[in-house]
Amino acid sequence: MENNKNSIIIGSDHAAYNLKKIIVSYLEEKNISVIDIGTDSLESTNYVIYGQKVAKAISSNDFTKGILLCGTGLGMSIVANRFKGVRATLCNDIFSAKMGRKHNDSNILVLAGRVVGDMLAKEIVDIWLKTEFDGGRHQERLNTIDL
Ligand code: RB5
Repeated sequence: MENNKNSIIIGSDHAAYNLKKIIVSYLEEKNISVIDIGTDSLESTNYVIYGQKVAKAISSNDFTKGILLCGTGLGMSIVANRFKGVRATLCNDIFSAKMGRKHNDSNILVLAGRVVGDMLAKEIVDIWLKTEFDGGRHQERLNTIDL
């Protein structure tokens, strides 16, 4: 995959398909480039397929930031965090979105389509995108994660 540092790669399963479409439109309205890798319908599918695609793109540095959505956000979190260099954070509230960036340098935002409403999800995305990593002692802690 080519280098897309300024684009956001996004994927979901069927359970969060509707929320994903809302988030894609929302980002495009803000002139943020989004690459949607599926799923493309409400037909039941396996979240692992899309979680792996997005996490692989982040792990290989083809993209800097990604968004993953499933029903609970849990399956996507489990899948994405198996990839080296991926720091996927499930954020169902504004505070987690902010701290996930400041302290954890989150590079994948995970949203739960069956937990958060559209308006809250949009605010979570906004905060997550605009909040910078604090670095310093938090970088030192991140450096100790990989075994
Ligand atoms: C799909 O039914 C659901 O299991 C999936 O979206 C996700 O919540 C898994 O963790």
